[in-house]
Amino acid sequence: VTGSIEGGAAQPAQGPSRQPVGAEESRRASRAWWDQEAARYQAEHGAFLGPVRLVWGPEGLDEETAGLLGEVRGRAVLEVGSGAGQGARWLRRRGALAVAVDLSTAQLAHSVALDAVTGTVVPAVQADACALPFRDRCFDVVFAAYGALPFVADAATLHGEVARVLAAGGRWVLSVTHPVRWAMPDAPGPEGLTVTHSYFDRTPYAEVDAVGQVTYVEHHRTVGDHIHDLVRAGFRLLEVLEPPWPDDDVPTWGGWSPLRGRLVPGTLILVTQRV
Ligand SMILES: C[S@@+](CC[C@H](N)C(=O)[O-])C[C@H]1O[C@@H](n2cnc3c(N)ncnc32)[C@H](O)[C@@H]1O
Repeated sequence: VTGSIEGGAAQPAQGPSRQPVGAEESRRASRAWWDQEAARYQAEHGAFLGPVRLVWGPEGLDEETAGLLGEVRGRAVLEVGSGAGQGARWLRRRGALAVAVDLSTAQLAHSVALDAVTGTVVPAVQADACALPFRDRCFDVVFAAYGALPFVADAATLHGEVARVLAAGGRWVLSVTHPVRWAMPDAPGPEGLTVTHSYFDRTPYAEVDAVGQVTYVEHHRTVGDHIHDLVRAGFRLLEVLEPPWPDDDVPTWGGWSPLRGRLVPGTLILVTQRV
């Protein structure tokens, strides 16, 4: 395992590998995996994530502190790969007209459950981030906290869709696993500190079942790839953040641990603006 956010929950029959995985297969695997694992994911990480919080990654940097989206009151905001919509819900409490999109029925069911628990309803749509069901230029801000992009084979299509639905000057802010983590085993202890794989190998991380079907996939892009993809899609880079592990008592999340987080970055956050 190299850069996996969540893989490895259901033991893959043939184990993890690096192999090419196309757009359709990625979509199918991600939808099935997140439908199957949503309950475990929310049970494991729900306390850290919310119910009403926009947190950018396992280091615990949240939007309350970071303010990366700019002024949100009265703005139309879209959360992409929203999971249970904790981020969009936090924004609605701050006066944003926030809506959410996710591929997974089960993740969206958790979002509906949080609507009831919190009394703050996030309008949520089931859709692929590569085919957003919204008209052109209807959002002022789009964001994703580890949502959709890591699981999508075709980054250009996703960024193109975000560019299409964003008004000129609008922000597209996203966080992903820091690409440097892909060169090391995804382990929280000292074994996760050795470079065992080429940072430059873009072959996706995949888990495969007994009949060779991909059950989980993540796509690796280098820092340069991310910037290239964003600029090509019509975005200007405003800021790059690599949050350090804080001194506070932040829990280990899979391979994200205090030991590793104090030595190498775990999350990459890109703040961009539609030209
Ligand atoms: C790591 S979770 C992040 C969710 C939320 N931001 C959080 O922090 O819990 C990734 C989410 O991306 C969604 N996702 C994966 N592929 C997607 C796609 N092609 N389009 C939309 N959502 C997708 C998954 O269903 C999942 O809810």
